[in-house]
Amino acid sequence: MSMLEKVRSTLGSYAETDIRTLLHADHVLIRDLAKTLAEAESRSERQAALRDLKPLLAAHSRSEEATAYARLMALRSSPDSRAAGNEGMVEHNLVDILMERLAASTDSGSDLWKAHAKVVHESLEHHIKEEEDAVFEELGEHFSDEERDAMGEEFVAKRDKLLAPRAKAQGAKANSSRRGKSASAAA
Ligand SMILES: [Fe+2]
Ligand SMILES: [Fe+2]
Repeated sequence: MSMLEKVRSTLGSYAETDIRTLLHADHVLIRDLAKTLAEAESRSERQAALRDLKPLLAAHSRSEEATAYARLMALRSSPDSRAAGNEGMVEHNLVDILMERLAASTDSGSDLWKAHAKVVHESLEHHIKEEEDAVFEELGEHFSDEERDAMGEEFVAKRDKLLAPRAKAQGAKANSSRRGKSASAAA
């Protein structure tokens, strides 16, 4: 990492529109939800964390793969970039499998469920740390500010599109509960 990149990374001073800033903002939410998933005392809190984490993580990961990883893996002259992209991809796949297992079981009080949640949390902590070191470094070294801004726009558009069905479902649920309340108030 160049000295300037090191300073920027340490200070977290990427431009607001830089894909690294946008990825980091999601990482903060993801780490928080994964911590709750692994450490919350009650089943209902753990289930709620899973309900929020699963779609966010899937949308973040698919969009990150398409915008950042794909470009790093296409850099024929940089083995480090290709390795960062490929390793990230494998880690995404492993966490996807664990998340599917958690979602397939309603027994969030069992030791096995909690063990899966703990490993998801640990894996995400490891993955995000590596991503913010290795992947961010490669993005800084091989792409211009303009290219990283364009990647950022693409990342947000893809992520939001993937999250849209859930946002729509939540909106419909909120509307129907509001309608239910006004119907009972009118009765
Ligand atoms: Fe990420
Ligand atoms: Fe990732």
